[in-house]
This record gives sequence, C-alpha cells and structure tokens, in this order.
Amino acid sequence: MEIGNTTAIVHSYAKVNLTLDVLGVRPDGYHAIESVMQSVSLHDTLALTLRDEPGIRIVCDMPGIPTDEKNLAHKAASILFRRLGINPGLEIRIEKRIPVEAGLGGGSSNAAAVLRAFGSKSSKFGVQSSKLLGSGTLNIEPGTLNSVAAEVGSDVPFFLVGGSALVTGRGEQVEALPDAPCWWVLIVKPPFGVSTPWAYKRLDEMGERPSLGAGELITASERMTRCVRASDWACLPDLLSNDLELPAIEQHPEIGVLKDGLLRAGAQGALMCGSGSAVFGLFPNEDAARYAANAFAGDGLQVFVCPTVTRQEATGIE
Ligand code: C5P
Repeated sequence: MEIGNTTAIVHSYAKVNLTLDVLGVRPDGYHAIESVMQSVSLHDTLALTLRDEPGIRIVCDMPGIPTDEKNLAHKAASILFRRLGINPGLEIRIEKRIPVEAGLGGGSSNAAAVLRAFGSKSSKFGVQSSKLLGSGTLNIEPGTLNSVAAEVGSDVPFFLVGGSALVTGRGEQVEALPDAPCWWVLIVKPPFGVSTPWAYKRLDEMGERPSLGAGELITASERMTRCVRASDWACLPDLLSNDLELPAIEQHPEIGVLKDGLLRAGAQGALMCGSGSAVFGLFPNEDAARYAANAFAGDGLQVFVCPTVTRQEATGIE
C-alpha cells in the first residue's frame, strides 16, 4: 500500500465578516449570532499526506502555532477519524499566511480544509484515501462533515461552504448566498490580538447592541442579505456592521484609528474583522487598494491586499 504517495494540497482561505450581529446569550453559554461572511484570497496552504505511522502530525512554518490537539486542523482530523472508526497516520503541513488572533478565521479555515480534503468525492485525495482507508468507510455525508465542523468550532462550518454566506445559530447554520462581484479588500492587522470569548463577554457587560439601533426592525445581517440577494452591490459598503467592535475598540482604540485611516485612504467602507484585531477596507479595484496600503507601511502593522473569492474558488481541492 503506497500510503505516503497520497497527498492533497488544499488552499485554506480567510474570511471577513461583512456584518456580525450578536443577538443574545443562549442557554448553552454561546451567543446567538447572525453574520454575513465573505471568503477572501488570503490563504494558508495545507499539504495532507497519509502515512504508515499512526497518529496525526502537524508541521507549521509559523512559530508559536500549536501542533497538538489545540490546533483546529488536528482536532478536525481526530474528531472525523473517531466518528468514522478509523485511525490512519496523517501528516498535515501548514504554510501559514493568515495572521492569528485577527478575526480572519485562519484556524477554523484550516480545520475545514482538512474535512473538505477527506470529504471530497471528486478530488484525487478523497478518492484515494477512501480506497486506502477501507472502501466504503469514507463515504462521508455532508451532514457528518457539518456536524464534525460544528464540534471543532463555531466558525468552521462556514469554511465548508465558502464564498458569501449567511451564518446563524452560534455559527453552525450556514446558508449560501450568491457570489458578489469581486471587491478588493485591504486588511490591516495591528501587533496585538483580541480574545474572542473576552469580546463576547465584554459586549454582554456593556449591554449594548449597536447594530440594532432605535427603530430598526431588522438586523444588519438581514439588511445585508437582502442587498446581496438583490445584487444591489453598491449599497454593500454602507451596510458593514460588527457588534464586537464596541468592546474591541474600547480596549484597543487603535482599532478605531485604523478604521478611520482606511476610510481616509479611500476605502468605500471599513470594519473590524470578526472579533478583531484586524480591520479591513473595501475598494472597487486593485490599484486603489494597493495605493491605500502605502498609508499603513511600518508601525508593526501587517498589511494584505486581496480580492474576494467565489464559493467555487474557496472550496476547490486539487
Ligand atoms: O466555538 P469556538 O470554540 O470557536 O468559540 C470560542 C469562544 O467564543 C466560545 O468559547 C465563546 O466564549 C465565544 N463564542 C460565543 N458565541 C458564539 C461563538 C463563540 O460566545 N456564537
């Protein structure tokens, strides 16, 4: 059995939240949310290789990234294998480009990339791994992938769908939306991160829901979803909204300063990514985004210029 020759190369794309409404605390302690998420071309690259030696081994080129069960790619593979009752050897090499603690979903995206590689019935890896690991055992239903993804983390199910999507529940319910035409996205990551649990907790303490302003009958995510479904792309920058900005900017006013900087540099709209700390601006073309990026050189900032990607681009497997 030539197990070592079975390798998949999977691109694992980042996301930005065009909206993030936090609706309240659920009985399980998580928060009920509504969010329109969008894949962007900034990506990590994963190489998955089946090995004769049992166990899951993670190798990553970015120092400080956990290589044990705390790594969400590791967690995804081990939960999937447990559900399927198999115990193959697997090496996952991660070329990390998506900054961590940025709100870009890098770890969650890596986890979904592993699940997509095993779950894809059309990729070479999906077909070969099914044969090598015992025919029939890897007949993974989409429902299984989704429930494994939700067990790994709230953001993971979105990355199985990719492109533009409306995400509800605690993040595990994902409804695909039509692909928007390409926007250019300038992402700026300050040298500090924001803890997701802290941001949710602090928002509860603050007792405010900025997206549900006085007199508003529908959430920012519903407004954005209507706009996307109607292909009314021009109004998209005006509808950007993220409830978690309130606690994050209170703790780190620099995030607000970066948002203002993006708008001054010509962004049509600007917002914090997820629970932070990165912010992004929307630009109509690459030249405008690259020109604006010059304003953020230095100061320990990480800067990325990337277009949005379609569902097909975000979920393809070699
Ligand atoms: O699901 P995940 O492990 O990614 O979530 C990390 C933390 O973020 C949770 O433990 C919780 O504190 C917070 N969270 C939340 N509501 C959500 C998603 C995440 O409160 N919908």
